[in-house]
Amino acid sequence: MQNVNTKIEKSNTLPGTFYYSNENFENVKLKIFEKTWQFIDSSCSFKENNFAKPFFLLDDFIDEPLFLIVNNNKFSCFSNVCTHRGNILLEVPTIIKNKIVCGYHGKQFNTCGKFSFMPKTEGMLNFPSDVDNLSSIDLI
Ligand code: FES
Repeated sequence: MQNVNTKIEKSNTLPGTFYYSNENFENVKLKIFEKTWQFIDSSCSFKENNFAKPFFLLDDFIDEPLFLIVNNNKFSCFSNVCTHRGNILLEVPTIIKNKIVCGYHGKQFNTCGKFSFMPKTEGMLNFPSDVDNLSSIDLI
């Protein structure tokens, strides 16, 4: 990214390459958009408890698969990626009736993003742990 002089009298026009450089584009994503609040949704589809809506944060820009869920009038946002092998958990908007179940190997999460079950893991000593929960994204 270009160095910006804090003294305006020393300013000059950015070179044209600034606007079409892939390196600058990736820097802008990391330094500006990934560290700032982003608008997610203004739809009125969150009227039913446990309604979950998958989406990509800044589609075709950051492409982070996430889902928004309303639980007892409280919105939460979680990673839409299974903590086992990275399968996408929710493909379409849906009401979660019981658990979020991964379609790949059956790992299950509750509506608060917490791990709840994985088939054939009985007796495993280091499982589950906190890394088995879905990552939570802050909302305001
Ligand atoms: S990828 Fe989800 S259970 Fe394996």
